[in-house]
Order: sequence, then structure tokens, then C-alpha cells
Amino acid sequence: MNIRVEKGRPEKYSCEVLLLFSFESPDSMEGPLQVVDLEWKGFLSTLMKQGDFKGELFETRLFHTQGALPAQRVVLTGLGKKAEFDLEKWRGAASKAGQFIRNGGFKQFAFPIEKVVGHAEAELVESFVTGLLLGIYQFNEFKTLDRDKIKEIRELVLLVDKDKDVPRIADALKVAQIISESVYLARDLVNGPANQVTPTVLAEKAGQVANDQAMEIKVLEVEQAEAMGMGAFVAVAKGSQEPGKFIVLEYNRGKGLDTIALVGKGITFDSGGISIKPSENMDRMKDDMSGAAAVLATMKAASKLQLPLHLVGIMPATENLPSGKAYKPGDILKTLSGQTVEVISTDAEGRLILSDALTYSLQYHPKAIIDLATLTGACVVALGDYTVGLFGNDETLLKRVEEASLKTGEKVWRLPLWDEYFEYIKSDVADFKNVGTRAAGAIIGGIFLSKFIEKIPWVHLDIAGPASIEKERPYIPRGGTGVGVRLLLQLLRDWKN
Ligand code: BES
Ligand code: ZN
Ligand code: ZN
Repeated sequence: MNIRVEKGRPEKYSCEVLLLFSFESPDSMEGPLQVVDLEWKGFLSTLMKQGDFKGELFETRLFHTQGALPAQRVVLTGLGKKAEFDLEKWRGAASKAGQFIRNGGFKQFAFPIEKVVGHAEAELVESFVTGLLLGIYQFNEFKTLDRDKIKEIRELVLLVDKDKDVPRIADALKVAQIISESVYLARDLVNGPANQVTPTVLAEKAGQVANDQAMEIKVLEVEQAEAMGMGAFVAVAKGSQEPGKFIVLEYNRGKGLDTIALVGKGITFDSGGISIKPSENMDRMKDDMSGAAAVLATMKAASKLQLPLHLVGIMPATENLPSGKAYKPGDILKTLSGQTVEVISTDAEGRLILSDALTYSLQYHPKAIIDLATLTGACVVALGDYTVGLFGNDETLLKRVEEASLKTGEKVWRLPLWDEYFEYIKSDVADFKNVGTRAAGAIIGGIFLSKFIEKIPWVHLDIAGPASIEKERPYIPRGGTGVGVRLLLQLLRDWKN
């Protein structure tokens, strides 16, 4: 969709659809609603007075203007109670309106920028565009039938009062577009099936991003990883015919900036390996590379936003399959850190590839390490699919993540990493086991990762629940969500060197 900013008045602007919003039972009309109502001889105020449109959250209706306005139609969407308004509801309302306009088959609409007391204009515009774009996302790449029935909006015009407002609003628009496009990239990769999104394809996509953004990229083959001593990554990769790839992207905006390492689990399909999973819902395991997808998407957007940082994105990518060459329960692996791991379950493969990736990240001496992984079913049991499990060793970094979470609506919740939990992964024959008990499974996954961090501030995000969802949310359709991208970008945008 093409989006542009133009000076124009809603009551004078000619378009297919004019989009307006209203709070629930407002005492009086304000802003665009008021000027359109005046021009329309009180049509909207009568409607609301008579209770035909209440303004309840996400309530949406279409009206023909029948020549009363230059706009052919008005779509009116409710924002709920004014006292309860926040950016999360605003993103949802933008999405609901956009879906309504798209599903109605309309190609073009205009939206007069709203002002809401207590919110900066830029954040309102950014949230509106982000909510809208994320809400109308569709994954149709593999549908060949009835392609003509796929509906898409072609154009949105953001109307502003004065010429001098245009550049400011255009800047906020640009930011929202960059962020939304990168969430689209992550969602496409997660929704893409495992026969399409292989480790090789992930490496190619990372190569494209590196190329477009003039970033450094290094892709280690399994043989190279083996020669370097990444025994854990190699063990997981060797069961598959698809070659594993250890992908490292580097973005640097200048000298002396803080280095932040982003590490994403890139299991393009997790069958469980020799400890094979039940076949029911195994198809979902194509999303086991959601962490890597989020890292790649974040790197892309960070570069487009020209964030003043030095970022290293590390994406160990491989399938986890059973075969005659696969690693086995009981195997002992030597990780890049030198520490040894006894494999109890080949299905706890995420922490293995991440252990080598975390160790690898240490060579950059980062100020912070953040990993994202669809790590444990236990985290889904604990928090469901709304919430990311948050773990870490540094209060300041944890707080920064929580602040970014509040701003973006990507919910996180803390779980502990107390030393006592280490008991569960003590091994008789190696330094640790890769599995503890079923109880506290998400925490044990975090404890395992913590053994590869040394003293650097670190956060682990277990995104197993929210990586893909069955039931749509106001601005997140079913399927891959791209969770983590907006959260990371907010954290990085707010980062103080
Ligand atoms: N990729 C899975 C975790 C997962 C499960 C993600 C369900 C999304 C939905 C991970 O590799 C895994 O299989 N973990 C095991 C760990 C166990 C063997 C300690 C799990 O959660 O069962
Ligand atoms: Zn697994
Ligand atoms: Zn997995």
C-alpha cells in the first residue's frame, strides 16, 4: 500500500472512503469528526444521539455520503471510552478499520490525523500506521486459486491541517513503515514452510539484507563451525541433509558506539530428532526459527532507521531431524565454550545451538546480549501465547526490556533464574545435561543458557507461545506474529550509549 501525507481538510477532501474515529458517547464532538459533522448537517451527531452508533471499541460502520461531502463514503470506527484510551487500543482500532475497508473491496482511503490529549502526535501517527499495516498483513504466497479474490488497499492519504505539518508527519510515517515492513519480513519467514525456508534460504535472506543495507555478513558452513569447536551446533545440524548455516550479520553506525548482540534460534524445522515429537501439531514446528527471523528483521529495520549502535545478529540455523547421522540421547558434546553437555533429549536442541551462538557473541565484548528463542513448551504452559517469557541477569537491562514491552504492547513477564535450579541439570558424566525435570521447564532452559554468558548483561526471551497464534488479535492475524521485532526495535531506539 502506498501511503502519503497531504495537506487537506476532511470535509473538503475527495476520496473513496474517509476514515473517522469516535470515542464512546462523547459529550461533544471534536477535531475531524466535528468538522465533517458540520458539513454533513449534523448527520453524525444525530446518529450518535439516537444511539445508532455508540463508539464502542472497534465498532465499525460504513455510510454513504450521497453528495453531502466530497468523500463518497465515511467509515466510522469506535475507540471505546476516552478514559481508557491507549496506544494499544489505537493500533487495534486502526487495524480493524483497515481490515473493514480492505474486506469491503475499497482501494483508497483518507484519514485526517487525529489529536488525542496526552499523546504526542508522532506516536499517534506511528501507532496508527503500524496497527493498520500489521492488521492487514496477509500470507498468500502459496495460494494459486482465486487469486483475483485477494483484496488489497492501494492507497492511503494522511491528511494534515497545514503544509508545515507535512514533513513531521511524513517522518513518523516513515518510521512506522520501516518497522511494519520488518515485522512483515519476520512473519513471512515464520509462515513460510520448512521446505521453503531452509537454513540456506535464511542465509540467502540475510545476504539480501546485508547487501541492501551495506552490512557485513558471515555465513559459517557446518565444517567451519566444526573446525572452530562448535560441537553443540554441529551435533544438531548433522542429522539433516539440509546443510546448517551459522549466520552472523553486523551493523555498525560509527566508532565507539555500544555493541549489542542479538541471538536468534533458527531451527527451520524441529521434529525432535531421535527423541521424536508426536506427529500431532508437528507442522507448527516450522516456526522454530522465529527467533532468528526476529533478529534478521530487527537488524534490517535498525539499519534503515540508522540507529546509532553497533549490532551483531547471530542466527544459528539448522533443521533438527532423526537419521543415521543424527546425534543421540546419551551423546556428550563439547561446546564452543569448552564446557561439555550430556544429551538427554535431542528435542532440547534450541539451547544447544544457542549455547555455541552465545559463546560466539562474547568475542564482540557486547554491552548486552539478547537472545530470542521458541525454546520450551513449558513456557507456553506457563504464559500461553500472549506473553513472552523474560529471563536475565541484569536488572537495568531487564527494566529496559519491560519498558519497551509497555510501549509496544508486546507483553513480557519475568521468570527467575535462581541458582537452586542449576541442580536439575547437573550431569554424572559431563558438565551439564541438556534437560532437567518437566517442572520449571522454561526456567531450566534459561539456566542452561546462562552457563554460556559469563558476566555480560543478558536477557533471554522465550517466545515459544507468541511466535505464532491460532486465534487472531486486533492487529495480529493468525499464524506467524513477528513477535520480538517491535520490542527489540523499541529497546534499541531508546538505547542510551
Ligand atoms: N521448539 C521446541 C519448543 C516449543 C514447543 C516451541 C512448543 C513452541 C511450541 C523445543 O525445541 C523443544 O522441543 N523443547 C522441549 C524441551 C524439553 C525436551 C526439555 C519441550 O519444550 O518439550
Ligand atoms: Zn525441540
Ligand atoms: Zn525447538
